[in-house]
Amino acid sequence: MDSPYDVEEGGLAYIEAMESLPLPQTRLLRTAIPGPTSTTLHAERVQQVSSGFGVALPVFIDRAEGGILQDVDGNRIIDFASGIAVTSVGASNPLVQARVRDQLARFTHTCFMVTEYDSFTAVCEWLNTHTPGDFEKRTALFSTGAEAVENAIKIARAATGREKILVFDDAYHGRSLLTMAMTAKENPYKTSFGPFPGEVHRAPMAAPLRWPGGAENATAEALAGVEAVLTAQGADTFAAMVIEPIQGEGGFIVPAPGFLAGLRDIAARHGIVFVLDEIQAGMGRTGRMFASEYEGVAGDLVVTGKALGGGLPLTAVTGRVELMNAVHAGGLGGTYAGNPLACAAALGVFEAFETGDLLAGALRIEDTVRRVLEPLVTEDSPIVEFRGRGAMLAIEFADAVTLEPRPLLAAAVAARCHAQGVLILVCGTYGNVIRLLPPLVIGRELLEDGLAVLVQAIASVYAESTVGSTAASTAASTAASAVGAAAARA
Ligand SMILES: Cc1ncc(COP(=O)(O)O)c(C=O)c1O
Repeated sequence: MDSPYDVEEGGLAYIEAMESLPLPQTRLLRTAIPGPTSTTLHAERVQQVSSGFGVALPVFIDRAEGGILQDVDGNRIIDFASGIAVTSVGASNPLVQARVRDQLARFTHTCFMVTEYDSFTAVCEWLNTHTPGDFEKRTALFSTGAEAVENAIKIARAATGREKILVFDDAYHGRSLLTMAMTAKENPYKTSFGPFPGEVHRAPMAAPLRWPGGAENATAEALAGVEAVLTAQGADTFAAMVIEPIQGEGGFIVPAPGFLAGLRDIAARHGIVFVLDEIQAGMGRTGRMFASEYEGVAGDLVVTGKALGGGLPLTAVTGRVELMNAVHAGGLGGTYAGNPLACAAALGVFEAFETGDLLAGALRIEDTVRRVLEPLVTEDSPIVEFRGRGAMLAIEFADAVTLEPRPLLAAAVAARCHAQGVLILVCGTYGNVIRLLPPLVIGRELLEDGLAVLVQAIASVYAESTVGSTAASTAASTAASAVGAAAARA
């Protein structure tokens, strides 16, 4: 079908008429994906935009709501990405929209370092109250995750008078120079961008699947590795230890039980500021407000971002008052830090969590996805692990025996899902992990439709690849019946 967006065809009017209606929460393929209008717009983009920006799926979005992204060709794509864990409360959440609209009508910006507005204070108060840790806190707001992580380091350095930073294998903390240094993966994040700031040291991450001594020994052995790095470098020269409670870009790796608590104890023993980077895993994504709650661990500082601003750029560092106030006046800030529109959006996000059952929604998503995808992990299947929490879930593709990563399988599965109108993202140090990050408000039927497409994509990629073993096809049919069973229960 021709693109309804094509003005010459009168299609724009069609889209405009649709705009007053809620976006139907069903997948719809009107054209190939990407469709003709997206293809034209992408060609224009290539002429104007730096080629340094990649794109997971080159479709141009016209509207988004709930679990659906509607593109400019009128296709309705299931959103298993949430703009990388940002639109958790939905991309058109009415509570967020109402507050932003009201703020927009009053003023857009003053710069909080010039004159003040109380939505900034209200966001800080919410974070001081809701982040784990039964101690007096203060918060500072920023615009991007990398900026917030850098500011956490500034705070830790100012408070301790020390310089070194401890980070972990497979970590991702951003694309600025310091956060690139803190990030583990070379390509695409760091290649050709060095030299990086010094004094960043890396320690082992207790990643159960690939831990050489076996998953059951991961915590104890990784903690011993951390102690070894600290001893070698001088534990009392470290300002901060920074860890994601569930690693995001590194592959949705859930640390082995006890690892986070062990790190917190080590940090406390050596006077190192323990920083939790909850930018991707926090703000309800995992079914708890903060992922570290699963391990009963609080950071001295916690960094939040992404879903905090409901789609507007807002990030934060929250932590112990004595650390947060160790910085000289004027030492923290930024022109757009805690912009009024972004603060208004965050207040809408908090309201959405307070009025809706979004944490339970995340757990329901986990339940449905687990029933469908976990059966795919069999002894000789190239899906070697299903992992994650709440609505932050992943499957890893690797050789069943050697665990050699199979990134091409993951890429092929993702491409097939895209062609069928399901947006999924690949991540991981080896690029072999398919991750699911649906909005917490996604409907069950839509979720199940997207999962059915994913399972079908896996089955067809298996059938065409050298994987073609009976185990693989058994796994695919097991999953297909799991989709059916989940649908029957709905
Ligand atoms: C855990 C984590 N930290 C930091 C960042 C950087 O955030 P931003 O892209 O907003 O700078 C990200 C972004 O993906 C992230 O997942």
